[in-house]
Amino acid sequence: MQIIKEKATLTEVISKLKSKDSSIGFVPTMGALHEGHLSLIRQAAAVCDVVVVSIFINPTQFDNAIDLDKYPRTLDSDIQKLEELNLNVIGFTPSAAELYSNNIQSEHFQFDGLEHKMEGKYRNGHFDGVGTVIKKLFEMVQPDKAFFGEKDYQQLQIIKKLVQCYQLPVEVIACPINREHNGLARSSRNERLIPKIRLEASFIHETLLKAKDKFGIESANQITQWVENEFKAHPYFKLEYFEIADSETLKPITNDVNGKLVRAFIAVYFEDIRLIDNIALNY
Ligand code: PAJ
Repeated sequence: MQIIKEKATLTEVISKLKSKDSSIGFVPTMGALHEGHLSLIRQAAAVCDVVVVSIFINPTQFDNAIDLDKYPRTLDSDIQKLEELNLNVIGFTPSAAELYSNNIQSEHFQFDGLEHKMEGKYRNGHFDGVGTVIKKLFEMVQPDKAFFGEKDYQQLQIIKKLVQCYQLPVEVIACPINREHNGLARSSRNERLIPKIRLEASFIHETLLKAKDKFGIESANQITQWVENEFKAHPYFKLEYFEIADSETLKPITNDVNGKLVRAFIAVYFEDIRLIDNIALNY
């Protein structure tokens, strides 16, 4: 497996692949690879000749220095996991100076208001950072298809909007959420949970499943209130937000569903560890 650190080398390799008409799949990641990431890579490899996997902890999307500092950095084992896949993968592992050409700053984006909701509301500048790095990476990798997890559902919608706004020649493919055995959505941050709490964290997905059962019987407001009370009574997890929203516009649903596809979104803290999850409510 080839590991590339420099943009110039990547450009050379990509243009060789393009000249051979090889289709390029792209899976951007921040490393600390787990089965969720690997599921995206497998889906990419099933439909593309080559899969570029970037491993880059993007400083501009962190609004919290502690979160950035504590983000797991496991490059050697990440590379080993990529090797073990035995697929046609190229790893791209640039430094921040290389990727940002020594100008580590976000561009400012407008994504039709998607950027102000939920994650955007609670993580200042987060989606400017995500938009900036993905736009740069798309320019470098020139993928035919790019694969994003529904785990970060709002990010997925924002990337679709980015592609639409800039008319980028890439197809964005949504991949389902991969979960641990107890239902906890896989995340690099789960590594920071002590085993007891990691087990207890099944509570997050269980609550989403119960909210799904209630949907259509109780109003969105009643369900939201119920979830808030569940978390108030919980000894470990602190609810940051629970929202029921249109899966396309991410606008909150109050009463009328009117044929919309609706999802519930949640963000929860255990101490300083932030976990997010979501679920389709009526599809
Ligand atoms: P990261 O959190 O490493 O996730 C990389 C990709 O893996 C994202 O598309 C994310 O949605 C997907 N993913 C993570 N956990 C998943 C799970 N349990 N099931 C399915 N997919 C999962 O998201 C980022 O990095 C960054 O914001 C990035 C897009 C790389 C930009 O820096």
